[in-house]
Amino acid sequence: MRITMVGLGYVGLVTAASLAEIGHHVTCVDQDENKVRQLKEGILPFYEPGLRELITNLTSKSSLTFTTSLERSCLGAEVIYIAVGTPPNDDGTVDLSSLETVALQLAGYIKADVIVVIKSTVPVGTNDYVKRLIDEHLPTPVSVDIVSNPEFLREGTALHDTFFGDRIVIGANNPDAAKVIEEINKPFNVPIVKTTLQNAEMIKYASNAFLATKISFINEIANICEKVGADIADVAKAMGMDKRIGPQFLQAGIGYGGSCFPKDTRALMQISGNVAHEFALLKAVIDVNNKQQTLLVEKAKQRFGKLDERRIAVLGLAFKPNTDDIREAASLVVIEQLLTEGATVTVYDPVAMNNAKLVLNDQVLYAESVEAALKEADMALIVTEWEIIKQADLPKWRNLMNEPIIFDGRNCFDPSKMAEHNIEYHSIGRPVSMHLN
Ligand code: UDX
Repeated sequence: MRITMVGLGYVGLVTAASLAEIGHHVTCVDQDENKVRQLKEGILPFYEPGLRELITNLTSKSSLTFTTSLERSCLGAEVIYIAVGTPPNDDGTVDLSSLETVALQLAGYIKADVIVVIKSTVPVGTNDYVKRLIDEHLPTPVSVDIVSNPEFLREGTALHDTFFGDRIVIGANNPDAAKVIEEINKPFNVPIVKTTLQNAEMIKYASNAFLATKISFINEIANICEKVGADIADVAKAMGMDKRIGPQFLQAGIGYGGSCFPKDTRALMQISGNVAHEFALLKAVIDVNNKQQTLLVEKAKQRFGKLDERRIAVLGLAFKPNTDDIREAASLVVIEQLLTEGATVTVYDPVAMNNAKLVLNDQVLYAESVEAALKEADMALIVTEWEIIKQADLPKWRNLMNEPIIFDGRNCFDPSKMAEHNIEYHSIGRPVSMHLN
């Protein structure tokens, strides 16, 4: 099929590359000239394992092309995907302005029957609204069908999630349009759920809200474990062995971040508020997460009283490993707290340093390695569970630091191992191990 992908952010680029990989011809379009120029040269706007290699290969075979011209990209397109950003407004509502702009532009360029697939996460009713918007502005009487095809990929494992996903959701009012999108996706060999537009929109929000609930739930259990002398590692492991609960998303830590969970949970709160439904459970999930992100620094304050004039290493900035994304990352909350306390903060992340510099500027010191960050630090705070951190040379860490004290927000180490290395170790929902001298 000849496919156009509008919007080359995370979802757009990964989806475009994946569709080209299974045999479609995909024209990628974005208004950002710099981004398009760099993509043509094989330079990606973000880090995602395996994606650069895939895109370079597909571009060399011309099955994936890039342009800034929406008009030209529409010529001959059988299906147009929209994957523009739908960021949150300050009040938690969803900013649909990019989607509206693209819909209006498309209406002017569409000259033949076409299917428009919305990938962006949008509130219930938005797909219908976009259909009306396009129909009202079509200069020629052609048929435009709208399909909702929400995205479930995770950053850092995006390609794996696309090719080995649990399901593909296709929402449409017209069964013929749904059938076309089903055929496009068949080579992925992933179960397909065909449903209504409203259901598809709701499935996306409900799934993310449920996963966020799982995380806040296990974090609260971890917080209680600390008080009653239990260990969250054993508790979560045995809970997860119950197939009805499942082992995933039971990793206690300092809360969820990223571009989806915080945004989508707040949006679902808004959506339920609009229909006068008080979603008390989801409100609690969000409140727990906000509090959880402050937990590491609270522990450090409890241990030391004041943190002013202390040299503190923050290890990991990305909202999770294998991405350079720091949107709504717990690290930003942690660093803001530390700076407010008057600490001197040195940060390190294997890939998110450039993004961090754009946000943190000269408020912190930037180290070139984990070791450089730890040198003469009075304590270290672990915020992202990067492999490079988990594979620590602990005796080396101990020697580099002024005081071998670690507050671990992602439970990277076994507390008993830290005791063996004589490192004071505070983690989430597990016993503290103290060093001996
Ligand atoms: C999420 C959804 O998983 C994905 O389906 C959707 O399309 C987009 O949002 P993503 O934000 O990329 O994906 O990351 P994910 O792996 O889900 O992690 C989100 C956050 O939850 C991270 O900050 C992570 O550290 C945290 N998390 C995850 C936990 O704290 N504990 C867990 O057990 C799992």
